[in-house]
Amino acid sequence: MSRRVYIETVGCQMNVLDSELLAARLEEAGCRMVPSRSDADTILFNTCSVRQHAEDKIYSALGRLKHLKDQRPGTIIGVLGCMAQRASRDILRRAPHVDLVVGPGRLGQLDELIARIEEGEGPLVEISGQRRGNKQAEVARSFAQFDGPRKTELRPGAHQAHVRIMFGCDQFCTYCIVPSVRGPEQSRPVEAVVDEVRRLADQGCQEVTLLGQAVNRYADRSEGEARDLADLLRRLDVIDGLHRIRFVTNHPRYMTDRLIAAVAELPRVCPYFHVPAQHGAEAVLRRMNRGYTVEEYRRLVERIRAAVPQGDGPLGAAITSDFIVGFCGETEEDFQRTVDLVRWARFKNSYIFKYSPRVGTKAAERFADDVPEAEKRRRNNELLDVQNQVSLEDNRRLVGCRLEVLVEGPSKAARKLDTRTQGGGEEGGADSSGPPDARGQLVGRTAGDRIVVFPGPTSLTGRIIPVKIEKADACTLFGGVEEGGSSREGLQENPDDNSRI
Ligand code: SAH
Ligand code: SF4
Ligand code: F3S
Repeated sequence: MSRRVYIETVGCQMNVLDSELLAARLEEAGCRMVPSRSDADTILFNTCSVRQHAEDKIYSALGRLKHLKDQRPGTIIGVLGCMAQRASRDILRRAPHVDLVVGPGRLGQLDELIARIEEGEGPLVEISGQRRGNKQAEVARSFAQFDGPRKTELRPGAHQAHVRIMFGCDQFCTYCIVPSVRGPEQSRPVEAVVDEVRRLADQGCQEVTLLGQAVNRYADRSEGEARDLADLLRRLDVIDGLHRIRFVTNHPRYMTDRLIAAVAELPRVCPYFHVPAQHGAEAVLRRMNRGYTVEEYRRLVERIRAAVPQGDGPLGAAITSDFIVGFCGETEEDFQRTVDLVRWARFKNSYIFKYSPRVGTKAAERFADDVPEAEKRRRNNELLDVQNQVSLEDNRRLVGCRLEVLVEGPSKAARKLDTRTQGGGEEGGADSSGPPDARGQLVGRTAGDRIVVFPGPTSLTGRIIPVKIEKADACTLFGGVEEGGSSREGLQENPDDNSRI
């Protein structure tokens, strides 16, 4: 098989990882990854179903490809991932020029399916069993674990990698489609994860982010007594060459003191907790089936702050959240409880979403989507303003501090400037976003996942270096590489001297 493949990915880190693993597999099967649709003879969309907007985008992209398929019938068009699992029939009805629909639990079959289409079969649909009405063990088998080789050049950054430790979700929050499109919760064995992380560290990876939908429910029961996330972190913390470990997403209900203590104790595990609250009002949390009270959530924030005092400068552990606004039956008063929680908890940042009803979820079946769109938008903007205010105040407290930063490469503004001066850049050529002095600006992240922009040579990419913070806005810290003991020149001359965090 020697196809030119373009994969377009939307959705969460799970999808980004699946696309990376797919690309590696397809390359091994003889395919070549190409950077744009126009270079490709195989166009794959790795899709998301979490909100309607994500699906709409795919339908319109598919619509635009109809013409291309008429002109070049040999082009293979595939829809992969969560939307493929949820809406295979709709996809083929609305876009009959699609050749291939593959759910997230069947991605391991992709090369074989492409080969069958080359031989004239199609359209082919390969999805896992429905959860409703089927035996859990059978359904779990049909959501096959998808694993594969890791290739540095296929990752967005050579020094950072996602590592899946769990598949699926059993939480059934009433608004959420993920349990039905990603299948039952399954944990990978500790040894498989340790091996993969060791290989990544050998490839030069400095930071790994462990992925699971409710990652703190991780439990490897393959050998006698279950081993939990704290056990896994202990094993990963001693891997040579690895400097940072993160894990997302945590469910508040399963955040044990044991796990929090492991984060406090293990030097390479970042003081960073993505632990979405989703809402600040009791009645709404209940309707969402989240399994905790607002009071319990507040206590969790206090437990983390007390046990993990380390973090970015005086701010301590970074805690981040997701929120849904405009969920079924949310009153203005309910919404104000969410605002209160954001002010009180001082999240590093929050991802805020307008509720989008999903067919096949309890909320869509049982509750009316009764908050008007304009009101959802207003609440979204108000909450965003409050969160931005909190982030700005906290970030300003970091001015004057020296923080360890893992350098990711040239900043966005510097990259834009580069393409413009090379005669490329965006259409129209008149794009002038990014300050005129953006050239030579690097971007990196602190242990608490704060973004830092500072001047320096690109040779610092992949290094962990101390940066003195000079300025801050709500989303970004700006600084300079510390002079003295670790001057820029000194660092360049001594590239193996990575400081530990
Ligand atoms: N497993 C993770 C992420 C799930 S999806 C978790 O439990 O947090 C990411 C976020 O999308 C969720 O945290 C939630 O805030 C949001 N989300 C999920 N379903 C949604 C829906 N139907 N409408 C709007 N936002 C939704
Ligand atoms: Fe969805 Fe809840 Fe599972 Fe997260 S924990 S994926 S929000 S059902
Ligand atoms: Fe979307 Fe699937 Fe992730 S629905 S959020 S891509 S698990």
